Amino acid sequence: MAARLVPAVGAAGLVVAVYEVCRRHCLAPMRQSEALLHLLADLTDSREHAVYGHSWRVGAYSRALAVSLGLSGEAADRVGYAGLLHDIGKMGVPDGLLNKAGSLDAEERALMMGHAAAGARIVLRAGSLRTLAPIIRHHHEWWAGDGYPDGLSGEAIPLGARILAVADAFDTMTTDRPYRARRSRQAALSELRRCAGHQFDPRVVASLAELVVAGDEAAAEDGGDLPTLVDQARAEG
Ligand SMILES: [Fe+2]
Repeated sequence: MAARLVPAVGAAGLVVAVYEVCRRHCLAPMRQSEALLHLLADLTDSREHAVYGHSWRVGAYSRALAVSLGLSGEAADRVGYAGLLHDIGKMGVPDGLLNKAGSLDAEERALMMGHAAAGARIVLRAGSLRTLAPIIRHHHEWWAGDGYPDGLSGEAIPLGARILAVADAFDTMTTDRPYRARRSRQAALSELRRCAGHQFDPRVVASLAELVVAGDEAAAEDGGDLPTLVDQARAEG
């Protein structure tokens, strides 16, 4: 588990700092700012226990899914970068709440849910990153309209946000957390399929299933370790 890098700054200070970094350094095209985007993603992850690498993997999975759904070039890059920064709005969530064990009350839940809109506001003010705002804002919308922050449904949800939702859930389920062990890829896929059509876009879930099957078949042929979806995303990048 990564050490927490920013325990003493406080949520408000962090938000101001992130605004400043984005405003000053993200004016260049996103590819030129890639190292900075990775740094911001790691900073976001470092505030939460046991999620180190989550943002990076969600970015890689999202890009791979975007490519498999027919996006290319800048459009696919945009989905990948949005995945990298999808939880940047959690910078504004207090430490105690971010790592709270057990259930949240209504006020705490509202604060946590605010991270999607807050993340969009952060990138909206950051030069070339502003095009990521709709994807980040809507990554917790549900296909059937039960999500947040705007209760959008179906194809009214930006495709990038629908991709992110699937990538985020897949990585969350297939990595260990302090309160539960990881699920296998197949178990995670079963859960995503169960929720397709209600929480997730069925087309995106089907695309992830194809990627996972292709990765497992390649591993069987090689006889080596399972190649991860991250490797596939790298190869296609
Ligand atoms: Fe999120």
